[in-house]
Amino acid sequence: MRLVLFYFSGTGNTRYIAHHLCNRLNESGYTAKAVSIEGINFTDAQELIDNASAVGLAWPIYGSDLPNNMKQFIKAMPVVENKPLLTFCTQMLFSGDGAVVMRHELEKKGYVQKWALQFNMPNNYVAAGVPLKSSADYALHEEKYLKTARKKIDILADSIIKKKDHIKQATIFNTLLAMSQRPFYKYIGHNMVTKMFGVNDQCTGCKLCAQMCPMNVIKMEDDKAVYVNQEKCLACFRCSNFCPVSAITVLNKVKQPHYKGPDEETYKAIITNRKA
Ligand SMILES: Cc1cc2nc3c(=O)[nH]c(=O)nc-3n(C[C@H](O)[C@H](O)[C@H](O)COP(=O)(O)O)c2cc1C
Repeated sequence: MRLVLFYFSGTGNTRYIAHHLCNRLNESGYTAKAVSIEGINFTDAQELIDNASAVGLAWPIYGSDLPNNMKQFIKAMPVVENKPLLTFCTQMLFSGDGAVVMRHELEKKGYVQKWALQFNMPNNYVAAGVPLKSSADYALHEEKYLKTARKKIDILADSIIKKKDHIKQATIFNTLLAMSQRPFYKYIGHNMVTKMFGVNDQCTGCKLCAQMCPMNVIKMEDDKAVYVNQEKCLACFRCSNFCPVSAITVLNKVKQPHYKGPDEETYKAIITNRKA
C-alpha cells in the first residue's frame, strides 16, 4: 500500500500530525508520503494520486470549515476508481464533522472514505480581545496535546495497515454542531478575519512574512511588509504568529505570546522552507 497525504498547515499543527503519521506508517513497512499543497502543481499532484493506492487529505479547522486553498485543491483532484480515502483535521476544540466535511464531493470523484479523525491541538488564533489562550511553551504542548495526538496516530496507523475502517465524528449530531458556526464563518467571519491584519512600525523589512505567506498576500514596499489582495488571505495566522519582531497586528493590536507551532522542529521547518 502506498499513501500520499496532501496537507495544508498554517502554523504547523496539521504538518506535525501528517509527518508523524507518515513516519509511523513507514516504520511499519508501509509507504507513506506527506506532501504540502503549497506551491504544488496539479500535474505533480495527479501523478502522485495515480501512483498511490490510498489518498489522504488534512487541514486545520477554520470555523468548522476547511481553508479555501484546500477546497480548491479538492475541486481540482482527478476522478479515480474506488481509491481509499483518509481525511483528518486539526482544531483547538471542536469542529463538529470537520474531518468529513468534504466527504460527499470526494465520494462523487471515486474516493472511498475509510479513515477520518479530528486531532485537538494548541490554539493558533492569537488576537487581542479574543478570549482564547495562546501558548509558546513546547513542553506544555507536548504534555497537553502531542502525547495524546501520537496515541491517536498509532491507532489510526494500525487501522490503515490492517485496512480496517476508522471513521470518527461523522454523525448527524456532529453535522448539526458544525452548522452552529460553519455558515457564520463561511459568509461573514472569514471576511472579517482576513481584513484584521496589519503591520506596525516594528517591521524590520526581513521579508519572512512575505516569503511564508501561503497565498502571497504580503508584499514588500519600501522595505516594509504590506498586505495586498487581502481577499485571498486564508487567515492562517502564520504571518502574525511567526513574525520575529511581532510587527504584524490583528485589529491594530499585538497579543502575546504568539503561537510558534507545536514544537521547535516544526517551527524551524516552516521558517526555513518558507512553505509548510
Ligand atoms: C481563522 C481560524 C479559525 C479557527 N476556527 C476553529 C474552530 O472553529 N474550531 C476549533 O476547534 N479550532 C479553530 N481554530 C484553531 C485551529 O484550527 C487549530 O489551532 C489548528 O490546529 C491549526 O492548525 P495549523 O497549525 O496546521 O494551521 C481556528 C483557527 C483560525 C486561525
